[in-house]
Amino acid sequence: MFKIPFKNSIMVVDDKPANLKLLEKMLSDKGYLVRPFPKSTMALNVALSDPPDLILLDINMPEMDGFEVCRRLKADEKTRQIPIIFISALTETLDKIKAFEVGGVDYVTKPFQFEEVYARVKTHLNLKRVQQMVEEKNQLLEKTLSDLQTTQKQLVQSEKMAALGVLTAGIAHEINNPVNFIKTSALGLEQDIKDIEQLLEFYKEHCTRCDNQDGAVGERLNIIKEEIDFDLLIEELPELMNNIKEGVNRTQEIVLSLRLYSRMDDFEFKKTGIHTLIDASLVILKNRYSQQKIFVKKEYGQEIPQIYGHPGKLTQVFTNIIANAIDALQNCDLNGVKNKKEITIKTALESKDDQQYVAVSIQDNGDGISLEHLDKIFDPFFTTKDVGKGSGLGLSISIGIIQEHNGLIEVVSSSQSEDIKSELRASGTTFSLFLPIT
Ligand SMILES: Nc1ncnc2c1ncn2[C@@H]1O[C@H](COP(=O)(O)OP(=O)(O)OP(=O)(O)O)[C@@H](O)[C@H]1O
Ligand SMILES: [Mg+2]
Repeated sequence: MFKIPFKNSIMVVDDKPANLKLLEKMLSDKGYLVRPFPKSTMALNVALSDPPDLILLDINMPEMDGFEVCRRLKADEKTRQIPIIFISALTETLDKIKAFEVGGVDYVTKPFQFEEVYARVKTHLNLKRVQQMVEEKNQLLEKTLSDLQTTQKQLVQSEKMAALGVLTAGIAHEINNPVNFIKTSALGLEQDIKDIEQLLEFYKEHCTRCDNQDGAVGERLNIIKEEIDFDLLIEELPELMNNIKEGVNRTQEIVLSLRLYSRMDDFEFKKTGIHTLIDASLVILKNRYSQQKIFVKKEYGQEIPQIYGHPGKLTQVFTNIIANAIDALQNCDLNGVKNKKEITIKTALESKDDQQYVAVSIQDNGDGISLEHLDKIFDPFFTTKDVGKGSGLGLSISIGIIQEHNGLIEVVSSSQSEDIKSELRASGTTFSLFLPIT
């Protein structure tokens, strides 16, 4: 194959045609691509638009002297790195110093020996090449270091998540036993209280006889009844019992969801019902969305088949996307807009490119995601939340999990401010997940 030899380009700037010609010829003979310029301003413009590898620059020139040309080239990012060698008849030490001060790398005095010029040119071109290589290597090192730091942070985070999963599973397991005691005891207690109530009713009916036989007993009974507010107590008992039962049921639901969420040990994909997993996420997040008065609307499709998937990981995905929607609604102001804060979760069967999917869409009517953020939200550590509130890992982990399931994730968000204030509030953000049925 024919290879074109690489030639370094050198710009020679001198207002004396004789010097210019001499340097052009000699440097060309040495194999350089030489561009001669008799006018400094013209040389400056050309150097700025098409930078050479090195410049030989005369100092005393009409229009603009060599120092000024050098200063301007050093001030421009594109031409800052070009080595500039001054050539001048000036032999004053002060001028030499100034030549270095304005950014020159070397100085040759006229009349010059061509061999000396050539040696200096060669040295500075070599230096420039080495410097460029060092810079490239530096950039590569910096990139490698930043990649390493990102990977390390991700590793630490996934270790933390795994440890958290084990801890959560342990706690959920430990809580389950005492909760079962409470539930069984509460049911027994309810029955016992009903029996005691019966006894008290019977007592009340026959108290008049006690009164008759021994007035002191009757009187004492009345005092105690007043002290303990007997009538209110009888009224309150069923309500208190119900609260205990409801609390226990909710704790059991949470424990069950946490166990599903943290099933880190369960690496096998299995037939999984999507609705159970979404419901588990909603149980975990119930407190957060009810406190914010957010209405969750479920529109589950009919006869949605099970998919093959990892229940714990998929629950994490739903939990993160719904948690993001709650965060978005928490900070958004719906004043003056008729709609209430709402998250709508829909499931359906959908076909895409000959593949059947269970599609899950999670939509909020929050402020949406701005266009400049939209293509960054899946990047690890990208967050717009305050320090300590979001780590920016939720969506990057979620996309990884969905890809592991050969699924797809899409996001549509509308953040135009005029829509937000309009009566027909914009749809906010919708995350759509597609999980293949295979
Ligand atoms: N429904 C949404 N509405 C508005 N912005 C959203 C929504 N979902 C995600 N975002 C934006 O995407 C960013 C990244 O989300 P991601 O879940 O990856 O991280 P995070 O929620 O900030 O932190 P983490 O989930 O790790 O606690 C969020 O900080 C937010 O700016
Ligand atoms: Mg998140």
